[in-house]
Amino acid sequence: MQRHRIAKILAEGKAGQEINVAGWLRSKRESKGFAFLVLHDGSSQDTFQMVIDEGSPGWESLSDCTTGAAVKAHGVLRESPGKGQALELHVAALEVVGKADAATYPLQKKGHTLEFLREIAHLRPRSNTFGAVFRVRNALAAEVHQFFQKRGFIWAHTPIITANDCEGAGELFTVTTLDLKNIPRNDKGGIDHSKDFFGKHAHLTVSGQLEGEFMAMSMGDIYTFGPTFRAENSNTTRHLSEFWMIEPEMAFADLNDDATLAEDFLKHMCASVIKHCPKEIEFFEKMYKVISAEEISRLSEAKFARISYTDAVQELKKAKVKFEFPVEWGLDLQSEHERYLTDTVYKGPVIVMNYPKDIKSFYMRNNDDGKTVAAMDVLAPRIGEIIGGSQREERIDILEAKMREKSIPADDLSWYLDLRRYGSAPHAGFGLGFERLVQYLTGISNIRDVIPCPRAPGSIAF
Ligand code: 4AD
Ligand code: MG
Repeated sequence: MQRHRIAKILAEGKAGQEINVAGWLRSKRESKGFAFLVLHDGSSQDTFQMVIDEGSPGWESLSDCTTGAAVKAHGVLRESPGKGQALELHVAALEVVGKADAATYPLQKKGHTLEFLREIAHLRPRSNTFGAVFRVRNALAAEVHQFFQKRGFIWAHTPIITANDCEGAGELFTVTTLDLKNIPRNDKGGIDHSKDFFGKHAHLTVSGQLEGEFMAMSMGDIYTFGPTFRAENSNTTRHLSEFWMIEPEMAFADLNDDATLAEDFLKHMCASVIKHCPKEIEFFEKMYKVISAEEISRLSEAKFARISYTDAVQELKKAKVKFEFPVEWGLDLQSEHERYLTDTVYKGPVIVMNYPKDIKSFYMRNNDDGKTVAAMDVLAPRIGEIIGGSQREERIDILEAKMREKSIPADDLSWYLDLRRYGSAPHAGFGLGFERLVQYLTGISNIRDVIPCPRAPGSIAF
């Protein structure tokens, strides 16, 4: 059977057309001599109304047509006399493919909290909210490739298992085949990873950047788009232990080029979601009242403010509000500070540039002032940091000195240093947390609600 998707039927269907649909029932309403069934199939924010007359094939299974049941139907499209839809299906034959017991099916047709839906993550894509989230996620993921491919960036597949800790924060999930009941020890009492599968301490990647850099230093402009993992014990609405990151890297580029790419990219994403998911955005606007199509359109054309970290600190010191965390030159900005800058001062996205070198990673390029590095964070309203990036240190002597300062053994990264030995060039890139982007454009407040299977401390069901 050729299945017609609801999205396509509603966009292109004509009265009189014979079609087949298949999906899951949202609801049923019985009348004298006929019944209405409301179907969804994942393709569209709109549901699809079907009308079956008493005595039609399948009428006898109407009692099995409960919320959540999987059904197939065949029939003819006709103009709908009712409100809410232009077309409906006049059912010629109906089949219940899989029943859903009304007494136990958890996703009954009524309002559920996002917290409750998180407990039934395997069924929540059937709800309005999660159907919308996952369609937005899909559209944005496809647009990531569109954006970079159009600009000639090469999609580079960086590894998931690696031996480097790019961010140096030690938030690593070890990958091992050692017998955990009988761990081999070295003479210092530590774990002897030379006996491990890879002969070295391996873990899940926290970022594809370092490998992305070597691809860029041959291929010019590249981007990665893949899962990354962080074993940080952060139970916040902005952190996941497994999240997807997009990391472009450009050869022969500096921090300003990097900021411009980040701004163009975010604006492109704003314009794309309006173009591909207008119904979903309208739904989020009505349901959660955080974002609006109008605001997203405005953002797609807005000029992002660019300020130095030093000026950001000045601005925060002037603030009349009381922050929980201190504001002092040299301290990292906390999310309350970031949100104050975006939501109160600039009322839009802000790119903060040139952070103190002591709070940033080893690979960032030292500025001439001796105190700061060519780093940038893009801060988005409500979310705070959505992008982190930098120009990379391309001068070998300075990079080696920075690694010594941060106790990063040069032996482990000799290949990374080679990029500075042979044909080194200025280069820059950034990382965008894909889930934070989805949060930003849907207004969904908890990051666990924008990925099918959220991973967080103490949480790995599904
Ligand atoms: O700022 P981060 O740590 O930067 C890097 O990993 C660089 N290596 C990127 C680069 O220059 N190629 O992370 C980048 C972004 C953050 O701005 C944030 O959006 C997201 O990744 N992110 C997280 N998203 C969800 N859960 C977490 N635990 C995240 N940690 C970072
Ligand atoms: Mg960061």
